[in-house]
Amino acid sequence: MYKFARFFLFLLNPELAHHISMRGLKLACFFGLLGNKKVIASKPKSIMGLRFPNKVGLAAGLDKNAEYIIPLSKLGFGFIEVGTVTPRSQPGNKKPRLFRLIEDEGIINRFGFNNVGIDQFIKNIKKAKFKGILGINIGKNYDTPNDKAVEDYLICYRKAYPYAGYIAINVSSPNTKNLRKLQGNEHLEILLKALNKEQKILHKRFKKLVPFVVKISPDNSKKQLDSIAKLLIKYNVDGVIATNTTVEREGILSSKYINEEGGLSGGPLNKKSTNVIKHLNKSLNGKIPIIGVGGIMTADDGVEKINNGASLIQIYSGLIFKGHRLVDELCKAIR
Ligand SMILES: Cc1cc2nc3c(=O)[nH]c(=O)nc-3n(C[C@H](O)[C@H](O)[C@H](O)COP(=O)(O)O)c2cc1C
Repeated sequence: MYKFARFFLFLLNPELAHHISMRGLKLACFFGLLGNKKVIASKPKSIMGLRFPNKVGLAAGLDKNAEYIIPLSKLGFGFIEVGTVTPRSQPGNKKPRLFRLIEDEGIINRFGFNNVGIDQFIKNIKKAKFKGILGINIGKNYDTPNDKAVEDYLICYRKAYPYAGYIAINVSSPNTKNLRKLQGNEHLEILLKALNKEQKILHKRFKKLVPFVVKISPDNSKKQLDSIAKLLIKYNVDGVIATNTTVEREGILSSKYINEEGGLSGGPLNKKSTNVIKHLNKSLNGKIPIIGVGGIMTADDGVEKINNGASLIQIYSGLIFKGHRLVDELCKAIR
């Protein structure tokens, strides 16, 4: 069924295909065509104080504005991450900004955090009344300089807190100028210190502890990963998502889009992100759980991420190329 739909969707411009398929999913959900399938219960697991019905989640970026939470939840995921959202709405980069690398099962995107802004985003979440685990991925506006970035993260963090299962701090998108520099020691320490302090305040106010996790880039060196790991431990960060997309182009064999700027995901990212997970697993020494993401296109890829130290996994490109049967296959394989 998905192969059939994919054939037609892949004839269209990728961004248009994305909107059509999300609206199609919403309609199918509305008319009850997705069934009443609950999340696949496969080895429920408690991580970061949350009970995940299964270990397979949807990665950030597919539902940037939290508009499709319920339809997406019908695909069997154990958790769903929405965003990245920024304090103010912004249009993102000029089109075209999304490229399908069909032969390599990869995607290059340079969206640049196009989103409706945190206030409308929260309205969308409230409307969805989702009962499962919702990750809210937050970032900074493109025109906020790095030395003011903490304020942007705090604005989103405070507004997201009451509605989030966990909050993901995105300091690794390659499509917002200099954002990835926030992974550097000095910036990261200031950011984590502020978020750790705010978490304590909000914990008291709302009487619930919402974990926060940091999403990192696959392009960090081992030395950089070690410094990041030290800070994550120092500031009691609850988890780390490894990884975002890469700006490097190794592993692309045949696509004509190889020279397009942006973050590369899917098949060509797989090895690189697994290596980051493997290294982080050593430097974190089991103290902080890792959410593994990057190039999971088959059940075996998911198992490999788990075997290298991931406690949970997420997919994005795999869903585009393989459809939602990949979620079932991953759950079964991990079981
Ligand atoms: C089109 C597209 C948009 C994305 N947007 C975001 C985003 O807004 N925030 C974020 O943290 N990651 C974003 N990502 C990265 C994914 O969440 C994921 O980390 C990455 O694609 C690697 O996983 P994959 O190989 O399964 O796609 C995006 C990825 C794609 C392909």
